[in-house]
Amino acid sequence: MNIPEIFEHNKRWVAEKLKLDPNYFKNLALGQRPEILYIGCSDSRVTAEEFMGAKPGEAFIHRNIANMVSSLDLSAMSVINYAVNVLEVKHIVVCGHYQCGGVKAAMESKDLGILNPWLRNIRDVYRIHKKELNAIEDPEQKFKRFVEFNVLEQCINVIKTADVQIAYRDRGLTVHGWVLDIETGRLIDLNIDFNDVLKGIREIYRLI
Ligand code: CO
Repeated sequence: MNIPEIFEHNKRWVAEKLKLDPNYFKNLALGQRPEILYIGCSDSRVTAEEFMGAKPGEAFIHRNIANMVSSLDLSAMSVINYAVNVLEVKHIVVCGHYQCGGVKAAMESKDLGILNPWLRNIRDVYRIHKKELNAIEDPEQKFKRFVEFNVLEQCINVIKTADVQIAYRDRGLTVHGWVLDIETGRLIDLNIDFNDVLKGIREIYRLI
């Protein structure tokens, strides 16, 4: 993929859209009302809109290394705040993926400089679920389960925010944990039972 090709593609894309609807971009410019906030990994193979079939205007997207939700990350916290309070999304999705390089790096004893504090948050996920993860002998299965636990913990981090707790109580905002299996293209719903999760963390993280 080279840069001139991108601009050529863009010209064709604009022409195709206008052929179907001459007001397509004028209507898009009027504003957005997405129902989903998607938080996923920056990995180039996990293209959120494409595998979800989301058109422009349908999904508010935040991506970073290993789909992390850290309370000290001003970007992620601002995205959640805006999506929940201004856009009033109905769903928040945290989507991880198997073969995640960020999660893999967190399983290795390596000094990666500025990545250390970021990956440290993933190592904390391992610590929380150490018993189950250490019991898995097959390294591939352990890696997959670690990806799933990371999604679960990032969903919990979403629920730790006051904005989400208020929207959950007042208008039934729901949080979902997904994993994309990039070997098959299949999207897997981890079917996290949030009422159950909430019961477990409410004692400590309840803000309202
Ligand atoms: Co990744």
